[in-house]
Amino acid sequence: MLDARDQRVLRGPLLSFNSDPGEGDRPAPGSVLQLDDGAVWLEAGQIRAVGDYREIAPQLPPGIEVIDYTDKLMMPGFIDSHVHFVQLDIMASYGRQLLDWLNEYTFPEECRFAERAHAEDVADAFLDEQLRVGTTTAQVFCTSHPNSVEAFFTAAHQRGLRMLAGKVHMDRNAPAALVDDTYGGIRDAERLIGDWHGKGRLGYALTPRFAPTSTGEQLDAVGGMLRNAPDLHVQTHLSENQGEIAWVAELFPESRDYLDVYERYGLVGPRSTFAHGIHLTQDMRQRLADAGANIAFCPTSNLYLGSGLFDRLACREANLNVTLASDIGAGTDLSGFATLKAAYQVGQLLDQPLTAWQGFYRLTLGNARALHLDKHIGSLRAGNEADLVVLDPRATPLLARRQARTQTLAEQLFALMILGDDRSVYATWAGGRCVHQRDVSLS
Ligand code: GUN
Ligand code: ZN
Repeated sequence: MLDARDQRVLRGPLLSFNSDPGEGDRPAPGSVLQLDDGAVWLEAGQIRAVGDYREIAPQLPPGIEVIDYTDKLMMPGFIDSHVHFVQLDIMASYGRQLLDWLNEYTFPEECRFAERAHAEDVADAFLDEQLRVGTTTAQVFCTSHPNSVEAFFTAAHQRGLRMLAGKVHMDRNAPAALVDDTYGGIRDAERLIGDWHGKGRLGYALTPRFAPTSTGEQLDAVGGMLRNAPDLHVQTHLSENQGEIAWVAELFPESRDYLDVYERYGLVGPRSTFAHGIHLTQDMRQRLADAGANIAFCPTSNLYLGSGLFDRLACREANLNVTLASDIGAGTDLSGFATLKAAYQVGQLLDQPLTAWQGFYRLTLGNARALHLDKHIGSLRAGNEADLVVLDPRATPLLARRQARTQTLAEQLFALMILGDDRSVYATWAGGRCVHQRDVSLS
């Protein structure tokens, strides 16, 4: 029996999703769990029970710590389905579209990750930033250097986080210091999988960067790894930019379209995430949906690189899962609020605005489901891992003024989605531990 010291209760308003709330102004019936005076009972890193505080209170052991979040709002920890930790320090590099941006800023920066100390420094800074904005899980690109993966997984493991990450594969069209030996890179990945996949809360994602930087042999070898171990995730990029698409057509003339390159090599499956997918035909969306794959919608990145406007509702029409992502460092903000705000703005330009219900669903349970992590995270329910974000809806004077005018939870959430930032994250919990407390150093 665990005693009260291994347990605690977080008390306050809470919001969690049971299912997709749909696109309407009101969430679909039964899709939302909302409690004004809720309790999340934590035990040994997991959620033991969730309910009205008054119903839970009589069951609590004497002496249990109750943490008061009365004027806050608890939600499941946010999830980022596509992000490059190694690009943290090149965020906000001026004025290029994808291919020039890669050559001018990204590849030179990634070369630095040959050095383990640099990788460790950036991994620590990146995870600290993520926790500061309430993101407790992400699917993460490292570089082609195994060092970068070791550094990232080590830092994530120390913090007890659920994270997916992998070594980038690229064997052409990049600086020599980044290009890996086709099969040597595969052996490196196999070793990393042996060392890290399934260790604690970590999972490995096979990471061919994108079609232009891999030969067919390399993509084929990565596809072979997936066939041998279908529980691995896959992450890559697809149809982000017109110049990129034209280049793929030149490099892979035998393929009928960009997606066909990945299909040919067995890389399109239920655990595959394709970042961007802006310039897709409905047939491509349908093929992705049939495979159970997901597109990572990265709105701040798409606006920043001028890549285009992502058609979210065309994906919904095809039953294609859409996840939400920051795509740092082309993305301009790690915060899920910034991603939601930009997604809303992109939606406005396409006459498909994003409701706060849909936005916060995607950032939590929606992303968890699409990444097949929902048996662990994404909602506040008994048995899940205790990853939570505690939001302060009135974090700034402006937010306090704005929230004074809101009358419904939908309005309150929408104001947070547009005006919220790192200051709105009061605390972050991961694996049952408080890993970030605003204004207080925990290290
Ligand atoms: N396509 C291939 N690599 C990258 C990358 O690092 N960032 C973005 N946004 N697109 C890519
Ligand atoms: Zn990316």
